[in-house]
Amino acid sequence: MVGDICGRPGRHMLRERLGPLRREHSVDLAIVNGENAAAGFGITGPTYQEILEAGADVVTLGNHTFDKREAVALLDEEPRLLRPLNYPPGAPGRGHCIIEAGGARVLVANAMGRVFLPMNLDCPFRGVDDLLAQEAGRYDLFFLDFHAEATSEKEAMGWHLDGRATAVVGTHTHIQTADDRVLPSGTAYLTDVGMTGPSESVLGMDRKGVVGRFLSQVPARFEVAEGKRQLSALLVDADPSTGLAKEVQRIFIRE
Ligand code: FE2
Repeated sequence: MVGDICGRPGRHMLRERLGPLRREHSVDLAIVNGENAAAGFGITGPTYQEILEAGADVVTLGNHTFDKREAVALLDEEPRLLRPLNYPPGAPGRGHCIIEAGGARVLVANAMGRVFLPMNLDCPFRGVDDLLAQEAGRYDLFFLDFHAEATSEKEAMGWHLDGRATAVVGTHTHIQTADDRVLPSGTAYLTDVGMTGPSESVLGMDRKGVVGRFLSQVPARFEVAEGKRQLSALLVDADPSTGLAKEVQRIFIRE
């Protein structure tokens, strides 16, 4: 699972590094969070295609899902592009898909937290419970991208799904945490996988603009930063016969 692709530098880093990583670790399935792929905010048709061509099998989103208008049509057309499953009924697109990988049926889902995110989505915990009940018997492995701000909400989700998910991996904060582990009942867990994109930045955005805004409190348009880049990911070794994780390994490459 690769963390939030930020703008063109993130897309290019993915294009250069995902292929070699897939070969080196014999990766069967790559899930990539693309909610910041289009200039830092949302996703478009061409940026989605670029992520697929870089080697992603499933692309997940988050609070920036609908920043670009064309995401509405794209979500309805692309079954492997996921938005958080806890949007209220009637929202475009879908929050999960089932994909064949490494001889297993893999359920991949995206959910979004509600703490410190200014959106009124449905309960992500109940949303995931409902999904697992609905898809029972149709999948061997289950990977959740939990896009959330609060570490508490993410840890809670990890424990809520321990023994029922192959992996619960947090996204959104853009800073990789060091708490990767397999929980006691077999679920791989990481609070936040981190960001893929410009490393000499504030969360991927040009640092001058962000620092200036903190100093002046005047709203400013943020641009994706340029320069050196990083890739953030979590490698999960999973057993389709149990549906659980055997091992996890954090990946952080900085140029
Ligand atoms: Fe986000």
